[in-house]
Amino acid sequence: MNSGTGTTITNHILDQQSASAGATGAFTHLLNEIVMAAKIISSEVNKAGLVDILGSTGRRNVQGETVKKLDEFSNGLMVDRLYRSGHVAMLASEEDADPIEPPRGCTLGEYIVLFDPLDGSSNIDANVSIGTIFSILKRRTTGPECDLSDFLQPGTEQVAAGYVLYGSSTMLVYSTGNGVSGFTLDPSVGEFLLSHPDIQVPERGKIVSANMGYWDYWSEELKSYFRYLRTKTDDKAVYSLRYIGSMVADIHRTLLYGGVFLYPADSKDPKKPWGKLRLLYECNPMGYLMEQAGGAASTGQGRVLEVDPSDLHQRVPFIGGSAQDVAEAVDFLSGKRSQ
Ligand code: AHG
Ligand code: MN
Ligand code: MN
Repeated sequence: MNSGTGTTITNHILDQQSASAGATGAFTHLLNEIVMAAKIISSEVNKAGLVDILGSTGRRNVQGETVKKLDEFSNGLMVDRLYRSGHVAMLASEEDADPIEPPRGCTLGEYIVLFDPLDGSSNIDANVSIGTIFSILKRRTTGPECDLSDFLQPGTEQVAAGYVLYGSSTMLVYSTGNGVSGFTLDPSVGEFLLSHPDIQVPERGKIVSANMGYWDYWSEELKSYFRYLRTKTDDKAVYSLRYIGSMVADIHRTLLYGGVFLYPADSKDPKKPWGKLRLLYECNPMGYLMEQAGGAASTGQGRVLEVDPSDLHQRVPFIGGSAQDVAEAVDFLSGKRSQ
């Protein structure tokens, strides 16, 4: 399809705006700044091997993880572009312990944005797909200052969520509550063009995605589930294992092909038995997209989007993908099924 015929993401966002009564254009402006950030980060990622932006900064973030130069670049860019929209009340990032104060004199708005500026950082230097994840809420407080309660809202309160995947091509996938749309960046014109209208997760898949290196830290229930997946039965094929180690890439494949992605509870650190993925800027946005595409997202105990957050960087187990696969995984994890 040549660029002359595709729907640009800007037009798509404007169409969504005109379809929602009372829309003021603020949301459109905010989303367009995320699009701009995606284009700039994509350009940096695509030349990362050529300029001095690979490798580590030598610092550690609030997660205790090594901060890569591209993490830092992407984080700063997202903060700058989002506040520049004039429609943000306050921001929070995976890279910052606390919510990020707006620059002095910045025009503020009513939206709260939480984001993972660069997901899959450990893959950057190996040129493996990485991504950016964002979750948009409306602020709850009304005073001059936001507070943590504006951020600690359940995923059901999201007004939009999405991700950018910097892969063999750069894609932006988002939802504002009316289904999921995917756009592919045409670098020759610098536009995201609609390439995946109305993404629907297949009812059931044949791929399981998890880091099996942690097998010894998994519950017996989870191990039974994996034994079931690798057993052929009359009504079930043997599942293939695909794990990239970048949540955005693993989720994108699961959205398109179906199956199930898990970052489950484990006993790697008995004091933190809830897995690695962060609720507010990884699990909630991805859970929202899965549900908007007809799939599901569970913590194993309940719907991800219904978790009542208690901390900005809290982690939850995540099982997301085809509705039937997620339901089956939850039946095993809860002990309802053992084969
Ligand atoms: P981030 O790079 O933003 O810290 O996220 C990395 C996450 C996620 O992208 C991926 O699913 C997971 O880490 C992989 O973790 P393991 O290496 O433990 O499998
Ligand atoms: Mn991440
Ligand atoms: Mn990250």
